[in-house]
Amino acid sequence: MTKKVNTKFKKLIKYYNLINHDLIYGNNSINRYKNKSKNLDKNKAELLVKLKNSLKNIKNCNLKKSATNLVFSDGNAYSKIMIIGEGPGANEDKEGLPFVGRAGKLLDKMLASIKLDRKNVYITNVVNYRPPENRKPTEEEIFRYFPYLIKHIEIINPKILILLGSTALNTILDNQQVISKARGKWNEKKIGNCTTFVIASFHPAFLMRQPDQKKMAWIDLKMVRQKIKDLKIKIEK
Ligand code: URA
Repeated sequence: MTKKVNTKFKKLIKYYNLINHDLIYGNNSINRYKNKSKNLDKNKAELLVKLKNSLKNIKNCNLKKSATNLVFSDGNAYSKIMIIGEGPGANEDKEGLPFVGRAGKLLDKMLASIKLDRKNVYITNVVNYRPPENRKPTEEEIFRYFPYLIKHIEIINPKILILLGSTALNTILDNQQVISKARGKWNEKKIGNCTTFVIASFHPAFLMRQPDQKKMAWIDLKMVRQKIKDLKIKIEK
């Protein structure tokens, strides 16, 4: 049964990738002749406010019912580096910001090790309301938030996308690989209208439980640092 459900959602996610996911995300009528690039020129802040409001108004979502706050994002919306985690925990739910608890403190240190900080990256999660008891989001929940996540990536339009942990990895790359195999590899991928270099690495919460794996995360971080150089990405101080 679980396998059937998994396959069904994987297929739907693929389908949503093929069609214009704006169909699911937005309520507007479809204009087949609309020049898509015009959307990209629209003010980012305006698009982000719209996306945030649609997440605030999300329907049929149990996560929203049990959560205190929407956890939308943190950091610099104009950054070329976007980080995606799994979902908010208790601290994030309380503060309405991603990665502000213990895992967040470790993420800050990881970023600092390659001379980055929250002010020069953009951070969000696969789901934007806290799954109760810090459980992983279910396939259905991931599926519910998927069109919003793709829209989020399109608006930010990063050159580098860092996926922290297996939930972000499997949602975005959908390669069914375990994180220990998939981490530390660059994939150039088209996500919605955005083509970006994607890398997966261990989630900081996992690294707190398995500190011996930090050496692998350090390899991934150095790859990110190198890619920033190769792509000549300017880090705003
Ligand atoms: N873990 C995540 O994946 N995201 C957060 O925002 C906090 C912890």
